[in-house]
Amino acid sequence: MTFTPQLRIPGPTPLPEPVVRAQSRPMIDHRGPEFAALLHEVTEGAQRVFGTAGDLLVLTCSGTGGMESAVANLVSPGDVAVVALCGNFGERWVNILRGYGASVVALEAEWGQAVDPDDLREVLAAHPEASLVFLTHNETSTGVCNPLRELAAVARAADRLVVVDGVSSVSSMPIEVDAWGIDVAVSSSQKGWMAPPGIAFVSVSPRAWARREQARSPRFYLDWGQAREWGAKGMTPATPAVGVLFAVQEGIRMLEAEGLSEVYARHRRIAEATAAGLSALGFELFAAEGYRSPTVTAALPQPGVDVAVLRELLRSKYGVVIAGGQGKMSGKMIRIGHLGAVSEGDLVQVLWAIEQALEELDVAPAEGRAVRAASDVLGRHAVAAG
Ligand SMILES: Cc1ncc(COP(=O)(O)O)c(C=O)c1O
Repeated sequence: MTFTPQLRIPGPTPLPEPVVRAQSRPMIDHRGPEFAALLHEVTEGAQRVFGTAGDLLVLTCSGTGGMESAVANLVSPGDVAVVALCGNFGERWVNILRGYGASVVALEAEWGQAVDPDDLREVLAAHPEASLVFLTHNETSTGVCNPLRELAAVARAADRLVVVDGVSSVSSMPIEVDAWGIDVAVSSSQKGWMAPPGIAFVSVSPRAWARREQARSPRFYLDWGQAREWGAKGMTPATPAVGVLFAVQEGIRMLEAEGLSEVYARHRRIAEATAAGLSALGFELFAAEGYRSPTVTAALPQPGVDVAVLRELLRSKYGVVIAGGQGKMSGKMIRIGHLGAVSEGDLVQVLWAIEQALEELDVAPAEGRAVRAASDVLGRHAVAAG
């Protein structure tokens, strides 16, 4: 019997109780003073989380919509852009850019590896015509966290506009948009923000605004100029996802009450414990050491384990919902999301269930290896914290 399902995919993430209550509030006038206060609080909170004093747009769409808004506002047909990618979501930048008629120079690291800043430097030197660089901070499909600060520094030093997919990173790990020279960063509500899907956040630097003036792609719903103009009046151009914004407001309050540095440390601890637990069960961690994501762990099972069967057993018998692979890794790996409302105990439960399931599938006897390995990691952190 499972009373509370463990939703451990890399988004949507579980909603904490205060967020569930917040989103069930009655509707308000989206052109009235209550909404203006809500938008103001969410915008300022998101600015603190992004680490920017610049414009922060709150759009009603998913993360992909936020990404598309960057392309629609910055790119003209025929522009050349470098995309530094290492997985499925990096490919999304490529596809959006091509859809808008841009020409893409793809710098692709092997899946499981991070993009090397030296490689980016070389590609930029070889392509002076490429005026924009598109990056993925946390590649959710492979569990790789790219060295964003270094990559952004390389792109900035080469005087390119830096656009970052921070969908599964911002609010769960450190990012400093202004200090790191990031012109545009995108995130969305269903990840570390502990809210349902429906809201994208987009930070826009003065350099990006200047570029937008020249860009000639069609834009209407995703026009940043409209969002900024209406935002200054405490409104959005079209009807916003008001219920999701109630949830986002509560999510940001919870993040700040915990303290962002503790939020980041918690994600890091839990990621390490997850990695240790899965390794103890014989999984091969997919992401290269040193670049493992604090928000999602991707792992390859022992030969002979059918990922679909394992996931279904976890879901139906243990109430534990984890993700499979994406793109070319579809059916080959598991991915455990540990971002947003996640505690050490949640992951211990997930690891315990995986070990039980592997016994049931005749892979290996359940002897408490995963929980022990995870506990060792968590115990070391507890001792270090004094
Ligand atoms: C890194 C990354 N980029 C983009 C997206 C796309 O966001 P959405 O599904 O909200 O459109 C996701 C969602 O999983 C993601 O993890």
